[in-house]
Amino acid sequence: MKPNILQLNPILVPSINERLDALYNMHRLYEQSDPDAYIVAHGRVIRGVITGGHTGIARALMERLPALEIVAVNGVGTDAVDLAYARERRLPVTGTFGALTEDVADLAITLLLATCRNVCAVDRFVRSGAWVRHPQPSAIPLARRFSGMRVGIVGLGRVGRAVAMRASAFGCPVSYTDLGPIADVAWAYVPELQQLARDSDALIVCAAADKAEGIIDTAVLDALGPQGFLVNVARGRLVRETDLVQALRERRIAGAGLDVFVDEPIVPPVLFELDNVTLQAHRASATVETRMAMGEMVLASLAQALAGERPVHSLTT
Ligand code: 8YV
Repeated sequence: MKPNILQLNPILVPSINERLDALYNMHRLYEQSDPDAYIVAHGRVIRGVITGGHTGIARALMERLPALEIVAVNGVGTDAVDLAYARERRLPVTGTFGALTEDVADLAITLLLATCRNVCAVDRFVRSGAWVRHPQPSAIPLARRFSGMRVGIVGLGRVGRAVAMRASAFGCPVSYTDLGPIADVAWAYVPELQQLARDSDALIVCAAADKAEGIIDTAVLDALGPQGFLVNVARGRLVRETDLVQALRERRIAGAGLDVFVDEPIVPPVLFELDNVTLQAHRASATVETRMAMGEMVLASLAQALAGERPVHSLTT
C-alpha cells in the first residue's frame, strides 16, 4: 500500500504532483471543504506532511497525526513549524535549503531597483495615458541611482550572501548585521542594527524570523532616514508593519520594496496609495526552475524518511 501523505499547500509544478501521485496516496488538505473533518477521517494514517515555508504546521495538527514520520517544508523558513515538539517526537523537519537562494536574491535586487528607479510608478504613468497628457519631462520626478548605494544586509545567511554578491557587482559598498561576525566574508560587520541603518542607503531584510521578530521598528526606520530604502524578502513579521506604514506615509524613509507581509494575503491598504512602494505577493521563490528544484528536494526527503533513513536536509534529527 502506498504511504499516505498530507499536503497543506499546492505545488505548482505538474510533474512534481504527478510523481507524488505515483508514489503516494496524496491527501490535499487545501482542496477539502471541511479540513477538520478530513483530519478526523484520515489523520491516523498520515506518515508524511508537505507544507509551505510560510504555512508550516501547528503543533495541534501534528498531535492529530500519530503515524507521522516527516514534515517536509517546501521552502527554507521553518519558523512556522514547532521544531521543539518535532524534536521531542524525533520527527525530521526538512527544508529545501539552497534551492531558492538565487531567486530570492534576484527579487531583492529587483525590488530595490524597481523602487528607487520608480519602475512601477512610471509604468502606471505610461499605461494610464498620463505621459501623453503630461509630456513635459518634469511630470516624472527624477529617480535615485542604485549603483554605488550603501547596502546593509540584515541577516547574512545563504540569501543575504547572494544579495551581497549582487549588490557588490553593482559597485555597492556592502555591510551586514547578524548574530555575530561571519568569518569567511570580507563585507563589514556592524553589530548594531540601528547603526547599520544609519550607515546604509538601503536595508535588505534576509533574516530568519524565529530569532528576529519586529527588529525593524521606528527607531531603525528613522536611522535609515528620508533618503533610505527598505526591502523585505524574508518574513513580514521581522518588520513592525504599522511603524513601516507610518514611516512611508510620512516620507520618513524614501521607499520600500516588499514581498512579504505580517498577515498575508492582507496588505495594509495605505500602501496601495503610495508610489514609493513596490509590492509583490510572496513570490521570491516562484520561478519554474526553483520550484522544480524544491519539489525534487521534497520528494527526496520524503523517500529518505519513509525508508527509515535520516533525511539529508533534516533540521531536527
Ligand atoms: C516558499 C518561503 O518558497 O522558503 C520559504 O520559507 O517563505 C517561501 O518563499 C513558499 O512558502 C512556498 O512553499
